[in-house]
Amino acid sequence: MIPREIIDEIVYRNDIEQVISSYVTLKRAGSNLNGLCPFHSEKTPSFTVFPATKSFYCFGCGAGGDVITFIMRSENLDYADALRFLAQRAGITIPEDESQGGERTVSRKRIYEMNLAAARFFRDCLFDPKYGAEAMRYLTEERRLSMTTIKRFGIGFSPNNAWMLTNHMHSLGYTDEELVTGFLCGKSRNSGKTYDYFRNRVIFPIIDTTGNIVAFGGRVMDDSKPKYLNTSDTPAFKKSRHLFALNFAKNHAEEQMILCEGYMDVIALHAAGFENAVATLGTAITADQARIFAKYTKKVVITYDSDNAGQTAADKAMRLLGEAGVDVRVLKLEGAKDPDEFIKKYGTAAFKNVINESKSGFDFKMDKVISKYKISLAEEKIKAADEICRIIAAYYSGVEREIYILSASKQLGLSREVLLSDVERIRKKMRYEAAQKQSREAMMSAKNLDNRVNRDAAKHIRANAAEEALIGMMLIFDDLRAVVASGDAGVSAEDFSTDFGRRVFEVICALEVSEYGFSKAMLGQYFGLDEMGKLEQIEQDRRKYSRNGREVLDEYVRNLKEEKLLDANKDDISFILNAKRGRLQKEKEKNNQ
Ligand code: CTP
Ligand code: MN
Repeated sequence: MIPREIIDEIVYRNDIEQVISSYVTLKRAGSNLNGLCPFHSEKTPSFTVFPATKSFYCFGCGAGGDVITFIMRSENLDYADALRFLAQRAGITIPEDESQGGERTVSRKRIYEMNLAAARFFRDCLFDPKYGAEAMRYLTEERRLSMTTIKRFGIGFSPNNAWMLTNHMHSLGYTDEELVTGFLCGKSRNSGKTYDYFRNRVIFPIIDTTGNIVAFGGRVMDDSKPKYLNTSDTPAFKKSRHLFALNFAKNHAEEQMILCEGYMDVIALHAAGFENAVATLGTAITADQARIFAKYTKKVVITYDSDNAGQTAADKAMRLLGEAGVDVRVLKLEGAKDPDEFIKKYGTAAFKNVINESKSGFDFKMDKVISKYKISLAEEKIKAADEICRIIAAYYSGVEREIYILSASKQLGLSREVLLSDVERIRKKMRYEAAQKQSREAMMSAKNLDNRVNRDAAKHIRANAAEEALIGMMLIFDDLRAVVASGDAGVSAEDFSTDFGRRVFEVICALEVSEYGFSKAMLGQYFGLDEMGKLEQIEQDRRKYSRNGREVLDEYVRNLKEEKLLDANKDDISFILNAKRGRLQKEKEKNNQ
C-alpha cells in the first residue's frame, strides 16, 4: 500500500485543472470549468471540473471523482498504476513494494518485459540466415526497405515452427499463463499445450510513447490469409488506444500528422522522410485515438486507401477528428492504391505536392456532393445546396462556417445570405435536437448508473436519501466525520438500508480511525469507477445545502434508524401506521414552531 502522505502529495502536486486540461478543452464557468465529456460522446458540455474540491463530475454520464479517478478512466489504469502515472508526472518517487499483486495475474510491467524479450527473439531470427533469409529478401527486395528502416522499426521474423518462441520464453522463465495472457502464445484446446501465436510472419512491434513494446503485428509474405495477425487486447494493450509509430511521430507532430491505414504505409512514409505518419492498428479510428491526435497536433492529413472501404473509413476519421478539435485534410491519391505504392511509383517530391494540395475536409465533402448531382438542373441544385448546408451547419466554429459558405456560394452560384440563413435554420434545429437527445440520455444514464452502483436505492428511497446526506456530510466536513466515526453520533453500519451506503460508511469510518487517517484520495482503492462517480455526485449534491451542522446530521441519523425499523417490520401494518402517524405528528410540531 502506498502511504497516505504520498497519495496526498501526488494529488496536491497534480493540479486537477491542469491535468484534465491536457485531455479536455475547458472553459471557465464561474468558479468551475466546463467541457465536453471525454468519457461519453456529447455535443454540449456537461463535464464539470470543480477546482475548489479538486474533483470532476459529468452530469451526462455520471463519471466523476478526483484526479486519480480521472487518470484511471482516461489512461485505463488501475488505482496503483494511476498513482504511479501521476507521481511520474509530478516528479515524485513512490517507494516500491511488491506486495501489490492485486487481482491482475500478469502485470503490465511483466508483459512489457516479455514483449521486449520476444521482439529481440524475432529480430535475431530475421537476421539469422538460417531462419530469416526469405523474410529478409521479402522486406528488402519486394518491399524495398533499407536496413536502416528495418532496424529503426525493430522489424523481426517469426519462424515457421510452433514452439520456437514458446521454448525460448520458457527458458527465460516466462510461464504459459503469462505467454497466453500476453498473446505471444495460443493454447491448444485438445492437448492444453501452448504454441507460438505468430508463425512464418514478418513481425512489426508496436511501441507506445514511453518506449514499451505493447503489441505485435505479423504479416504473411505471400497472398495467404489472414494477411495480418495482431496482438489482441491484453492488460498492457488496448488497440483502440494506440497508434502505430506514434513513438516516432510524436516528435514531428507540431505542424501536422499523417494518418494512414497500414503498417507498411507508415513505414514507407517514414523511410521517405515523413516521420509524422501513424496508423491505427487494423481497426477504424476511435474517439480515443482522435483525442490522441488532438493532444499532439493541430492538423491531420488522412491518406487512406483509394478503395471504397478506405473512403468510408476516411469519412468516419474526418468526423471523429473534427469532433476532437483537429483540423482535417484528406488526400486523394491518383494512380496508386495507397501511400506506399504512390511513393514507390512517383517519389517523395510528388507525395509532398499532394500533401500541400490536400483538400480540407469540407472541400472533400463538398466535391463529393457536387459530383453526385447535376447542378445545372434547378431541382438537383436545390438538393445539393441542402446537403452542403447541412455539412456546413455541423461545423462548430463560426469562422469555418463563414469560409465554407463563401466557397459554397461560389461553387453553387447562390448568394451568401441565402446559404447563411439556411445554415442557421439547420443549426437551430440541430441544437434543439441535440439538447433533447442529450437530456434524454442524461436521464437514462443517471438512472442506469444509480441502478448499477446502488441496486437497493430504489427499494429504500427515504433511507437512501438520508444515507446520501450523511455520506455527503462525512465526505465534506472533517469534524462531522470524526464524530460519526468515533461512534458519538450513535450511527453504525447496521443502521444502513442499502449495501452500497453501508459499504461507503464502513470504508470512510475505517479510514478515519486508521493510522493513516481519512483522505478522499484513498477511496479509489475501495470503489470502482462508477462508484467513484456516484460518490462525487453525492458530495456535490450535499454542497448545495447550507444547513449542514450537527443537528442536521442527527436528524438524518434518526431518519435512517426509523427507516430501518420500518423496513424490519414491513409486514406489520399496524406498526407502520403508528410509526407514520408519529412522524406526521413530529412534522406538524416542527411546522408550528
Ligand atoms: N489489417 C489487419 N488484418 C488483416 C488485414 C489488415 O489487421 N487481415 C490491418 C493492418 O494493420 C494493416 C491495415 O489493416 O496494416 C491495412 O491493411 P492493408 O492495406 O491490407 O495492409 P498494408 O499494411 O498496407 O500491407 P500491404 O501494403 O502489404 O498490403
Ligand atoms: Mn495497404
